Formats: sequence, C-alpha cells, structure tokens
Amino acid sequence: MAPRVILIGPMGSGKTTIGKAVARKLQLTFRDTDHVIEEREKLSISEIFLEKGEEKFRLIEKAVLRDELLSDETVLALGGGAPISVDAQSALRAISSRIYYLDVSLATVAPRIGFNRDRPLLLHNPRGQWQTLMEARRPIYESLADKVIDANKMSEKEIVAFIVEELS
Ligand code: S3P
Repeated sequence: MAPRVILIGPMGSGKTTIGKAVARKLQLTFRDTDHVIEEREKLSISEIFLEKGEEKFRLIEKAVLRDELLSDETVLALGGGAPISVDAQSALRAISSRIYYLDVSLATVAPRIGFNRDRPLLLHNPRGQWQTLMEARRPIYESLADKVIDANKMSEKEIVAFIVEELS
C-alpha cells in the first residue's frame, strides 16, 4: 500500500492544483498534507504556526505524512517542508510511489507567493525567504524525485497531461 503519485516541491510550485487535476483524470483520491493537518487540528496552517509554533507543526506534519504514506492509490501533495526531515526522506525512499518534483524558479513563483495563501513562512520578505528555503531544500527534492519536472517551461495543464500519460 502506498500513494500512486507523490508531488513534492516548494511553496507555489503548483502541487495542489496539479495533484487535484491528476487525481481527477486518473480517478484517484487527492490528498494534501496541509489540508489533512488543518482538518486534524481544526486550525489553519497560519494559526498552527502562530498558536503552537513551527516545531509543533513539524511534528504534526510528520505524523500526517506517516499516515498518508499508508493510503492506497492516492495522489498525495506534500507541503514544501514535509519531505525534508531525515525520517521523511527515509520513509519516502522506502515506498513504491512515483515521486515528481515540481522545480520552479523564484521568477515563476514570485507572482504567486506572499499574497493569496496561508503561508506563515513567507510573511516577511516572501521572495528572500522562499529563495533561502529553496536553496537549502533543492538537493533533497532532487534526490527524492523519480522525475524532475521543469515547471518553469511547462504550463500546469501540460504537466498534468505529462504525468497522466506516464502513469496510464
Ligand atoms: C511550508 C509549506 C506549506 C505549509 C507550511 C510550511 C514549507 O505548504 O506546509 O506553510 O515549509 O515550505 P505548501 O508548499 O503547500 O505551500
């Protein structure tokens, strides 16, 4: 048992939008670690960071990831930081799911980040924060991915079509 597809990548890379569309086309259930965390805690991601702190958020995220990796035949989108811990990396390496990394540059995500979503890590200096996180995390995303998708060059529609084609 394992998700069929896992999408990883930084904030704003389109994991949720693309994941939902892939799930719809493949008639699979879409899951999103951030969404599960919010449902479990009955708080938004920002509220969790504010009221409980990032450390507690990461613990909840770890437990949610562990549970979601047991779900069968889902399309699972991971929060940008969910695959980063050593435990998460080993868990992701141990399963058979196909892992896609949506690689984007700051120029591509800049119009999307900092405004319209619940992203507590990007409250101050969103571009600078995003870039710092991305520099630290890129090697981990790359090492976990079965496939790196250059999301700067492809539209979300093209990425969905590509993944669906690969899996069909
Ligand atoms: C985070 C990414 C967010 C969310 C939280 C922390 C991160 O998810 O989990 O704000 O550490 O990169 P998205 O990548 O879905 O925005």
